[in-house]
Amino acid sequence: MSEYLTACLNEYVPVINAYLKELRFTDQIGARLAAPLDNAMHYSVDAGGKRLRPVLTIMAYRLLADDWQRALPVAAAYELIHTYSLIHDDLPAMDDDDLRRGRPTNHRVYGEAMAILAGDALLTEAFRLLAEEVDADSGTVVKLISGLSRAAGRDGMVGGQAIDILSQGGNDQANANIDQQSELLETLHRRKTGAMITGSLLAGVDLAQGDPFLRSRLTEFGSIVGLAFQVADDILDEVGEEESLGKDIGSDRELGKLTFVSLFGLEEARLRLADLHRQALLLLEPLGEKADSLKALADYIVERDR
Ligand code: IPE
Ligand code: IPE
Ligand code: MG
Ligand code: MG
Ligand code: MG
Repeated sequence: MSEYLTACLNEYVPVINAYLKELRFTDQIGARLAAPLDNAMHYSVDAGGKRLRPVLTIMAYRLLADDWQRALPVAAAYELIHTYSLIHDDLPAMDDDDLRRGRPTNHRVYGEAMAILAGDALLTEAFRLLAEEVDADSGTVVKLISGLSRAAGRDGMVGGQAIDILSQGGNDQANANIDQQSELLETLHRRKTGAMITGSLLAGVDLAQGDPFLRSRLTEFGSIVGLAFQVADDILDEVGEEESLGKDIGSDRELGKLTFVSLFGLEEARLRLADLHRQALLLLEPLGEKADSLKALADYIVERDR
């Protein structure tokens, strides 16, 4: 990671982490009668992770304004939804994984029922943050709620997860040719991962009242970088180190997932990743120096080992 990006992350991530840690999800009665739910929610939220989505919200906001702490509730809303998606992704009915963010998965500690409910509650809490905690006019708040619903919902992350499960084990692709499989794979990745990455960028733009040109640039950038992020994830599932990743490796192969590695092989997946990286950087060119942080993040996304 470049020194420049390290400095950016050192500025934002501790503040994001502190904001998330201080969130109170329950009242006194809830704490007395259902403490494990609150504990399960904070267990996964406070376990860390790269905080990529909140960082993207803040970086996009900073293209337009300096008071980036104003973006914290919005950034946190994206991180809560992302964390819920990981808790559910790891459940036995989905990827059935045991390690996440360097710790046993949520259901391993709190049981499946509490893990499902912790995910449900984090999902709901994200929308409460947008509705109640953002310092913006009501039109902007509605726009943010709309953006997050689209990124997280049926034709965003959840829909992508459904395609992921349906295509597992080659079920959906028995009669498909390589072009059809490739199209399915791209749609799957753009939805399950790309939608939340694009959404987190646009949330920063919308909060800062960015113009349509910037919005459409960052939509394209998010779409490419989001796809690249999941291609890197597929590669890391094959060749990454469990220790640095903090999650199980080899799950994709074990479950017969449709991934860039399973469809094209490792070398071709790497070439495509490099190509997406080039495209992403080109899209930022017109934004000039102020997009340096997003450029550095795009570099990191393709070279990351965690
Ligand atoms: C993992 O996301 C799931 C994917 C969408 C690939 P991250 O790699 O951002 O996980 P954390 O947040 O750092 O734990
Ligand atoms: C999950 O993709 C994307 C989500 C929406 C959570 P993966 O199943 O590949 O994510 P990891 O590898 O378990 O983090
Ligand atoms: Mg999965
Ligand atoms: Mg998984
Ligand atoms: Mg993966």
